[in-house]
Amino acid sequence: MSAPIGVFDSGYGGLTILKELKKQLPQHDYIYLGDNARAPYGTRSFETVYQYTLEAVKWFFDQGCSLVILACNTASAKALRNIQQLDLPHIAPDKRVLGVIRPSSEVLGNYTNSNHVGIMATLGTVQSDSYIIELSKFFPKVHVHQQACPMWVPLIENGEYDKPGADYFVKGYLDELFSQSKDIDTILLACTHYPLLEAKIKSYLPEGVKLVSQGDIVADSLVKYLQIHPEIDQKCSKNGKIQFYTTDNAQTFEKQASSFFGQKIEANHTDLA
Ligand code: DGL
Repeated sequence: MSAPIGVFDSGYGGLTILKELKKQLPQHDYIYLGDNARAPYGTRSFETVYQYTLEAVKWFFDQGCSLVILACNTASAKALRNIQQLDLPHIAPDKRVLGVIRPSSEVLGNYTNSNHVGIMATLGTVQSDSYIIELSKFFPKVHVHQQACPMWVPLIENGEYDKPGADYFVKGYLDELFSQSKDIDTILLACTHYPLLEAKIKSYLPEGVKLVSQGDIVADSLVKYLQIHPEIDQKCSKNGKIQFYTTDNAQTFEKQASSFFGQKIEANHTDLA
């Protein structure tokens, strides 16, 4: 039996990834789940993010999904390894759960000439050091400078990302990042919410600094993954349909989602746990 690809985030951010997946793999079906009732994840403990993410993954499996993408850096940083190594072998050895940190780390070093990259992310992602660990595998010469941006997700989730008040926090975190090194020539937006702040971030970037978002990187990587794993691709249904679920209020989700996804959507409510 075939089923949609599951796409998960703590809230709306994963929609910036889903938008690119849909562009590159339009024939596939997707189910998006935002755990809005318990977002943000960025400041929560390892144990909590792991527990919440595992509940979401099991929910996708209950919907029949064979492949789930954690379109959330925080969940990828804090839960993915445990789920892949400890849970999947018992609960669903034939199913796959993938994250966004590895595909981003596989290519990020190609963007830098100075070998100094900035990672802007949630506190949880920064504290996990996942980017330092992953990038060192693919680009051992690249220096990684991390900056936690705890105010960015609340600004975005509350629709303040294009208002003048956001400038203070955009400039503030960029200043902190560049105070670590003036040699940074590439910045990864290592939180799937952050593309909404792209215009403002660009307006404060020193000339020549590249700003990299994850959507097309993750989509490129999924295209390759499905080519290499036809046994997984065969289990993915292909009618070009997308369903949206949230653990919070469906109408509120519908209103906010279009700024992340670029078009109007219809959402349903679901409970986890
Ligand atoms: N979108 C999530 C990420 O990529 C973080 C949002 C949150 O803090 O819940 O890390």
